[in-house]
Amino acid sequence: MSLVPSDAVVVDELVKRYPKSPVAAVDGMSFAVGRGEVFGLLGPNGAGKTTTIGVLTTRVRPTSGRAFVAGVDVVADPVGARRHLAVVPQRNNLDRSLSIRQNLLFHAAYHGVPQGERERRATELLEQFGLGERGSEKVDMFSGGQMQRVMIARALMHAPDVLFLDEPTTGLDPAARLFVWDRVRELQDSGVTVVLTTHDMDEASELASRVAIVDHGQVLALDTPEALTKSLPGSATLEVAVTPLLGGEADALVRALEELPSVERVERVETVVAGAGHDHPRAQQATSLPPRTAGAIPAAALDDEVATGRRLRLYLEGDAPANVAPVAERVVTHGASITDIRIGTPSLEDVFIHLTGRSLR
Ligand SMILES: Nc1ncnc2c1ncn2[C@@H]1O[C@H](COP(=O)(O)OP(=O)(O)O)[C@@H](O)[C@H]1O
Ligand SMILES: [Mg+2]
Repeated sequence: MSLVPSDAVVVDELVKRYPKSPVAAVDGMSFAVGRGEVFGLLGPNGAGKTTTIGVLTTRVRPTSGRAFVAGVDVVADPVGARRHLAVVPQRNNLDRSLSIRQNLLFHAAYHGVPQGERERRATELLEQFGLGERGSEKVDMFSGGQMQRVMIARALMHAPDVLFLDEPTTGLDPAARLFVWDRVRELQDSGVTVVLTTHDMDEASELASRVAIVDHGQVLALDTPEALTKSLPGSATLEVAVTPLLGGEADALVRALEELPSVERVERVETVVAGAGHDHPRAQQATSLPPRTAGAIPAAALDDEVATGRRLRLYLEGDAPANVAPVAERVVTHGASITDIRIGTPSLEDVFIHLTGRSLR
């Protein structure tokens, strides 16, 4: 791999083997992140995401391979690398004995930001993160979402070029999650490079311009979310909600739909309605989006679900709109009617299943 000095992050054949562990946590990863990019490392628990972030942020010593942040070799010059980077770790590491403003100020002092400048930045960042009134309160007074905001604000105190966010929204409620998403978009607008890890495909496709799908310490695929999903066998999906059908009739309908020439596969899907957080405009918007697909369910297991009026997900080759009429016709022929129909594209979840045979959750 040739190193491009202008890249914000370069990971080259990186390997990390923890002592006494039989398998490598990171097993030959390579990728590069352009300046100003939001880059996602998407993979299940144990994939090696945190270890990779650990190497890039100089907390973990690699077994072999190289890593650069802002052109600085993180192993050869960790102090130099730390001037350019900041990290929001997966676990809360705020100092509970300090107020949130003091947490910000101490971090900036550690990084050599002059006093006047640190006071100014702390005020500005607390304001920007909706914590302007609460700077003097201790960490314990804050919710999980608020603490995550404090950690991101703290990370920005020394104006890093590259920000690493390790599972920035895991465990947050929907409104807090959307708040973090908005801040990440703002950071991108201001030119900061963001590398985030997640096991949430929505988060990866919402935020990241490119995504590396990782599993067992290796990069399985790396591209834009659109290109990754386009690589799947079906090029489009049609999600159809039908009125209740009895088990046998539902099976017959699925078979009839599978016989359509452009239908590659039919899945019965369980749906999860988007969660609360109605005081946040984006959360309201989210509830009007298509319900999330929670994964494929073996056809035989779900007669009851279909009988109560569930969704069918069709993976199609070619033009989705052209399939609406023939699909509707078969639904009607089998004694049901369509209550909702949505044309979509396969998700990153489908890409992960395609690559590994497992679900991301
Ligand atoms: N400090 C450690 N010592 C030994 N094994 C570890 C340590 N940290 C992580 N691992 C192991 O390395 C693998 C990758 O972990 P991690 O990088 O935390 O993955 P992820 O962040 O994707 O969940 C896992 O099998 C995990 O158990
Ligand atoms: Mg992790």
